[in-house]
Amino acid sequence: MIKVLITGGQGQLAQALAHTQPKHQYLFATYQSKQALDITHIQQVKRYLQNNPINYLINCAAYTQVDHAETDQKRAYTINAIAPGYLANLAQEFNFTLLHISTDYVFEGLLAKPLIEGMTTNPVNYYGKTKLAGEQNILPYNIPAYIIRTSWLFDVLGDNFLTRLLKRSQQEKHIGMVYDQVSSPTYIQDLATTLWKIILQIHENPSLYQPGIYHYANEGVTSRYDLAWTIHKIGNLNCNIIPKHSSDFPGFANRPSYSVLDKEKIKSTFGLTIPHWQESLAYCLHNYRQ
Ligand SMILES: NC(=O)c1ccc[n+]([C@@H]2O[C@H](COP(=O)([O-])OP(=O)(O)OC[C@H]3O[C@@H](n4cnc5c(N)ncnc54)[C@H](OP(=O)(O)O)[C@@H]3O)[C@@H](O)[C@H]2O)c1
Repeated sequence: MIKVLITGGQGQLAQALAHTQPKHQYLFATYQSKQALDITHIQQVKRYLQNNPINYLINCAAYTQVDHAETDQKRAYTINAIAPGYLANLAQEFNFTLLHISTDYVFEGLLAKPLIEGMTTNPVNYYGKTKLAGEQNILPYNIPAYIIRTSWLFDVLGDNFLTRLLKRSQQEKHIGMVYDQVSSPTYIQDLATTLWKIILQIHENPSLYQPGIYHYANEGVTSRYDLAWTIHKIGNLNCNIIPKHSSDFPGFANRPSYSVLDKEKIKSTFGLTIPHWQESLAYCLHNYRQ
């Protein structure tokens, strides 16, 4: 039996994990909401693990409001930086494999060059700083921990670039989108499917796989403006998408200009073929309309 615990069970990625969970009789996954299991309360998580032994924990719990994190710093740091260290500590004590989700925002993003796992990090916003600290609090533990950095999650459910644009297009005629932020959009269902693949492969043959940091996003590169323009085109949205510079939105947290993640490591290690973001976007919008 493979027992998997998913924290942050009501979030977008956790919901996608539930949706894509492989139908194996030997795979048993439990999704715990923040209310049921708060990762910032180590004693609560410890009690849970004493009563419910697991083989894998996928940490989908996070403080994800990038702009609010600038002012709500203590809460963001506790959830994104301190709690992952607790989980690593518990992974050591209870002997499970930890899969933790991190972000392209750990990078400064000044170079137009795909980012490799070992490259220097230097977050430009507080959210990125907390996520980087979360990684750094996991890595010193001598445990099998896989940190998956990803970028620009989208789906037709939850609160993300796509759902926000779909909503705004019903209320606004002209929508400004920045053209000076470039990365790779990631369909949440593709990421979730990949996380299951990784768990099943590690479980099958743990000695084949090296714990550490891995990058995952859909193939292809785009700016936020081009992404919005493509959504507008495929989704027949009734609005105009206007190109804007990020300096036109002064109230927002800084974001890296170029945060395309290089995915060679995850592809070669786990034998993955990753869909292009446009293909996944078209599939996602098609399913939405159905
Ligand atoms: N969204 C993106 O574009 C993006 C990009 C790169 C990386 N990531 C990373 O991907 C991961 C998943 O993101 P997501 O978009 O699925 O996030 P999400 O939808 O915001 O889900 C996060 C979940 O964690 C819960 N949570 C917050 N504090 C918690 C705590 N102390 N204990 C337990 N649960 C807690 C939240 O509950 P409440 O909502 O009730 O607070 C929410 O249900 C995160 O690690 C995020 O940093 C996201």
